Amino acid sequence: MIAVEELKRQAGDRAAEYVQDGMVVGLGSGSTARYATLRIGQKLRSGELRDVVGVPTSIETETLARAEGIPLTTLEEHGQIDVTIDGADEVDPDYNVIKGLGGFLLREKIVAYSTRYEIIVVDESKLVDRLGTKSPVPVEVIRFGWRNTRAALEDTGARPVLRHVNGEPYLTDEGNYVLDCHYPGISCPYELEAEILSIPGVVETGLFLGMVHCVIVAGADGIRIMER
Ligand code: A5P
Repeated sequence: MIAVEELKRQAGDRAAEYVQDGMVVGLGSGSTARYATLRIGQKLRSGELRDVVGVPTSIETETLARAEGIPLTTLEEHGQIDVTIDGADEVDPDYNVIKGLGGFLLREKIVAYSTRYEIIVVDESKLVDRLGTKSPVPVEVIRFGWRNTRAALEDTGARPVLRHVNGEPYLTDEGNYVLDCHYPGISCPYELEAEILSIPGVVETGLFLGMVHCVIVAGADGIRIMER
């Protein structure tokens, strides 16, 4: 059996092949997208790739990209991103995904929205028939009045849990809280997303709907590429 870590590496490496000279590249966050960033760094150092600039989706990825010698830019300097390579927590058959268990969903979504070609890299354990089956939907909320925001999220059918790290509420790169919203499977993701976004205090949801162009899945039988 191939270890999950090896599957993540294979997916990340394969995705890095989509990056071409001169591109503006969105650098995703999480343990799978990390391998793509490492591979892009390697290719730049060896001269296999030239003139690539990256837009990191988190402070964590920014630190990694700097260490790898990847030149960085911002959305202010480059408003249009050619390709973004990012991970996901769940992927459904319609290329809709849940992201944000790593806590970086807000910047990831802003970057995805500005991207021509969004590639998601996952190992096969992330594929589901219906979103919400294995993963909660992370919802980023501002700290002010968060208990009221949580109560409103309960009214959408969720069991929202305030995310903690080391016993303290987790703070995003933007200084917000994350409520992990557990649903018993999500039958209408678009309706749910609209409902969640209508709640004051909600900044963004981890539902990425209609934003993904390609999913690279690494599994025991090799790499599968799903493109739409
Ligand atoms: C980060 O906020 C997330 O969206 C990650 O991309 C997602 O959680 C997948 O992470 P892994 O590749 O580490 O499972």
